[in-house]
Parts: sequence; C-alpha cells; structure tokens
Amino acid sequence: MKSKIILLGITGSAAAFKGVMLASLLRKEGFEIDGVLTPSALQFISETQLACVTGRPVYSSLFTMQPGDPVPHITLTDSIDLFAVVPATADFIGKSANGLADDLLSSAFLACSAPVIMAPSMNTRMWNNSATAANIEILESRGVIFAGPVMGPLTCGTEGMGRLMEPSSILKLCLDVLSGRC
Ligand SMILES: Cc1cc2nc3c(=O)[nH]c(=O)nc-3n(C[C@H](O)[C@H](O)[C@H](O)COP(=O)(O)O)c2cc1C
Repeated sequence: MKSKIILLGITGSAAAFKGVMLASLLRKEGFEIDGVLTPSALQFISETQLACVTGRPVYSSLFTMQPGDPVPHITLTDSIDLFAVVPATADFIGKSANGLADDLLSSAFLACSAPVIMAPSMNTRMWNNSATAANIEILESRGVIFAGPVMGPLTCGTEGMGRLMEPSSILKLCLDVLSGRC
C-alpha cells in the first residue's frame, strides 16, 4: 500500500529541533515526509539535519529551482495527506491568517487543500497578544487544527503558556487526523 505523505513545515522557533523529533516519530510510523524550512528555521536547524531523519530532500527556498520543477510551492502540496507546521511561530501564524506568501512554506500553505495542523510555540506575551489570538481564530474558522501550545518552561527563562506540545502528543493528533478521527 502507498504510504501517506506529510508535508512537515518547521519555522524559526527555539523549539525547531522538536520538529525534527516529530519527523523521526512520523517516519517510524511509515509516513513519507517532505520537509520545508523557513529561512528563519535555518538559524536553528539545518536541511541536512532534517534530511538525515526523513531520508528525503528538504526544501527551504522558494526560488531554488528543483530539476524539472520550477514551482515546488505548488507541487509539494499536490498529493499530500497532511500539512503540519511544527513549531509554528507567531509570524507564520500571522502570515497564514492573512494570506501572505513570501517564502516556500507560506506559499505552500496557501496552495494546500489537505488538512492542516499547526503547533504554536512562542513566548507567553506573544501568545497572549490580541493579534495572535485573532490570527488563531481566523485560521480555526478556516479549518486549521491547532495542537497546543501548553504551559511549561520557555526559552526566555519564564514559565507559562506558549510551550510547544510534546512531539509524541502531536504525533497522536496527526494519526487521528490522518485516520479521520478528528
Ligand atoms: C533565539 C530566538 C528564538 C525564537 N523563538 C521563537 C518562538 O519560539 N516563537 C516565535 O513565534 N518566534 C520566535 N522567534 C522569533 C522568530 O524567529 C521571528 O519572528 C521570525 O521572523 C520567524 O520567521 P518564520 O515564521 O518565517 O520562521 C525567535 C527568535 C529568536 C532570535
């Protein structure tokens, strides 16, 4: 049977390495994973690091031509079963809510007709900002499924809401969405 394909987007968060952990868990479940990093995510993890886990090419540039494919932002979403962004920054959530498409991941999101999961990760004040809340509300009204965030220790040294949900819990949600359980 053909394995399901997941487009895993990783954005520029201190928790970007946990996106790589999720990729590892998803691969163990037998999924094919196409990894897409935002330019900011490259400040935290590398294409090579993610490719070592997925065993497939990883993409981060809108304009780097793939052989035979000048428009990866469209083709990457042609036949995926799930689009998951883990972690999702406040910036990515804001761009997605407002239809902005200025890099590969945000362009692919606009072109995507598969189910979408976003797992936010950010400082508590960023999470509590009314702009973030409004963006989440818009995306939820359009069918985006949010995984977390949760309470816990944050990179900025404080503790509060904004911590990325654990990869094992995000995996469970991915499995539920893929099997139509939610
Ligand atoms: C060390 C560091 C950690 C960051 N962690 C986060 C984070 O967890 N969540 C977030 O929303 N932004 C975080 N940012 C800010 C984002 O990197 C910034 O908004 C960036 O423009 C996001 O780009 P992207 O959404 O295209 O990946 C962090 C910045 C730095 C310097």
